[in-house]
Amino acid sequence: MVTPNKLFTAEGIQEWMVSKLAELLSVAPNTIDVQLPLENYGLDSSRAMILVTQAQEVFGVEISPVLLWHYPTIEALAERLAEDCQENTEDSSSATQSVTVDLQAEVVLDPRIYPASPYISDFISYPDNVFLTGGTGFLGAFLIYELLTQTDADVYCLVRAADESAGKNKLKQNLQKYAIWSSDFDSRITPILGDLSQPLLGISREGFEMLAANMDAVYHSAATLNYVYPYSALKTANVLGTQEVIRLASTIKTKPLHYVSSVAVFESPFYAGKVVKEDDEFNEYSGIFLGYSQTKWVAEKLVKVARDRGLPVTIHRPPLIAGHSQTGVGNIDDFINLMAKGCIQMGCFPDVDYMMDMSPVDYVSKAIVYLSLQKESLGKAFNLQHPEPAPLKDLVNWISQFGIPIKFVPYQEWQNQLLNITSPDNPLYTLRPFLLERWSEKQLTIPDLYLKSNRPIISCEATQKALADSSITCAPVDSRLFMTYASYLIQSGFLKMPQI
Ligand SMILES: NC(=O)c1ccc[n+]([C@@H]2O[C@H](COP(=O)([O-])OP(=O)(O)OC[C@H]3O[C@@H](n4cnc5c(N)ncnc54)[C@H](OP(=O)(O)O)[C@@H]3O)[C@@H](O)[C@H]2O)c1
Repeated sequence: MVTPNKLFTAEGIQEWMVSKLAELLSVAPNTIDVQLPLENYGLDSSRAMILVTQAQEVFGVEISPVLLWHYPTIEALAERLAEDCQENTEDSSSATQSVTVDLQAEVVLDPRIYPASPYISDFISYPDNVFLTGGTGFLGAFLIYELLTQTDADVYCLVRAADESAGKNKLKQNLQKYAIWSSDFDSRITPILGDLSQPLLGISREGFEMLAANMDAVYHSAATLNYVYPYSALKTANVLGTQEVIRLASTIKTKPLHYVSSVAVFESPFYAGKVVKEDDEFNEYSGIFLGYSQTKWVAEKLVKVARDRGLPVTIHRPPLIAGHSQTGVGNIDDFINLMAKGCIQMGCFPDVDYMMDMSPVDYVSKAIVYLSLQKESLGKAFNLQHPEPAPLKDLVNWISQFGIPIKFVPYQEWQNQLLNITSPDNPLYTLRPFLLERWSEKQLTIPDLYLKSNRPIISCEATQKALADSSITCAPVDSRLFMTYASYLIQSGFLKMPQI
């Protein structure tokens, strides 16, 4: 227990943070290492925000989420907060300056990585064995499902787990969670224990070489998705991990690499209002503020360097990935669901010109697997953007039609109301620092950066053309899709119907 007189010292703050983190993670405090980046504890953005918000209240200082950019460990953060407490100043502006990372300088692919031999593409449509990262994640579950149903291949999945049986269970439970498990899959899924952030993916050299020699294709979907941590904290998994995946695809036998990127590579304000096509270059990165988006920019660049060295690659850029268009099953804790739930609780949405840039997960996963099996796809990028995204205003209308009282209020008023939220029951309570933090010279907030006028127009014409011979289509964003999602969110207990 931390005593009041030592609470505001670095030691006291550290002790408090250890106990809070242990509580959040349901682990014993003595298992927390204060020198490890918080990110290593698998804290997602919203749980990191819970910690930050509670610390703000206890220590009476304003803590910018950007502070975690500079002080990613408990030890460093506690020292910094102790200084703030001592000076009794609320001016943390020096720490909220965004760090400019020279992303182009980060695009360095190990010069030893070159494809082992020219690729013979005769077997691209009929792989026997494929390696997949991210199979315990949202998209990864659906990629496994599509690989098992669209091909006869066995799927070898990189998993973080204590042993193979735990790894297999983790994969199985993930598919069950999204209602896509079948016992027929059991014998075709093999866990490969490892870690994206380690050299050779944390696999022994023999194991790595065995995979390199026997896989026919590599699918890379894993990444740490965290909207709070800086580039430096995410680089190991998202950038260096991608380098290790490229190494695997290039070693012993050249194998096509199918990489899951993101439309975030076009996030620089340079592209605002401009049409960006699949094959357009994305050299501009100034004004990309999220560390996560920065890592996706660098990682796709690395994949392109590998392509220029002769590796056969396909690149797939989803927008925000929404739930399954038929079952509604999705990632409950994603940002859009938290925002929608929070705004419903507030009774209002901000009156802003937003487009819902999202594609259902069934479309994204079906398209990735189908495109990866076409010889003509090699060397190309695909924008899995919804061909007809809908404005946020439509969402709000559907919510009203559902019988939920909701209105639009001016953006400034909505921001002010955010400050009045006092209950952690509203998911926006913990997201407040993230939503209100001002970035860039223009002092824009993250929501400002997503205004339609600040976004590129992402063309998916070439992708739709490449899918034309398949039966794969992207479900329209309409009231029917909304009802499917809403029913799932209500059924799962995430959303409550108002008592009318
Ligand atoms: N979701 C979206 O809206 C969206 C939009 C655009 C692009 N994308 C991209 O799509 C891909 C999949 O996203 P998602 O929504 O499926 O993410 P997710 O649900 O958070 O899953 C992430 C996956 O990556 C794995 N992973 C993270 N760090 C790892 C490490 N160090 N070693 C091994 N595995 C690690 C996770 O494994 P654990 O289970 O062990 O944590 C999990 O399987 C990502 O590349 C993402 O950038 C997603």
